[in-house]
Amino acid sequence: MNLAIFASGTGTNAARIIDYFRGTVNVKVCLIVCNKPGAGVLAVAEKEGVPTLLIEKEPFFRGGAYVDELKGKNIDLIVLAGFLWKIPEALVRAYPGRIINIHPALLPKYGGKGMYGRHVHEAVIAAGEKESGITIHWVDEHYDHGEPIRQVKVIVEPGDTPETLAKKIHLLEYEHFPKVIEEVLTHLPNHR
Ligand code: GRF
Repeated sequence: MNLAIFASGTGTNAARIIDYFRGTVNVKVCLIVCNKPGAGVLAVAEKEGVPTLLIEKEPFFRGGAYVDELKGKNIDLIVLAGFLWKIPEALVRAYPGRIINIHPALLPKYGGKGMYGRHVHEAVIAAGEKESGITIHWVDEHYDHGEPIRQVKVIVEPGDTPETLAKKIHLLEYEHFPKVIEEVLTHLPNHR
């Protein structure tokens, strides 16, 4: 099984996923797709020896959405780990039931365009929520929208700031995302 991880940011989740599957015989992270030159995830890829594909807006949204490049690498599952662009329909159609995302809140609350990173945690705290968490879900052509696969909750404590909450949520992500990816892979139909 070949994984492609799409990420725009620091790539700490990508690093955990690569680490988790290192040494397994049948799962390989074989591509990091990134839309941001200089993003931390590119350094992670370099350190781990994972090939990268730097993508641009025009071909992604109005061209072939890099489907040929992905098909050329025999990608079985696309994992979005902090990827900030919406997934174009062409890509969703090319990989039906084969794209998953992680979101740092309990969807359907605190999702959608602009709801990423610090913005999510600020909104959760400002609303006085008593809990937050992570949502791992299937991806369709709407932001943070497809069917949930797994949600894990964390308590928002009275003294929590966006930073402390982000830290707790990142730890949850590191713990659960690689395992959920593994489970998803075991249930994928065996064709590309
Ligand atoms: C994670 O919190 C993830 O939930 C969100 O983007 C963040 C990526 O963090 N979609 P990192 O780049 O893996 O550190």
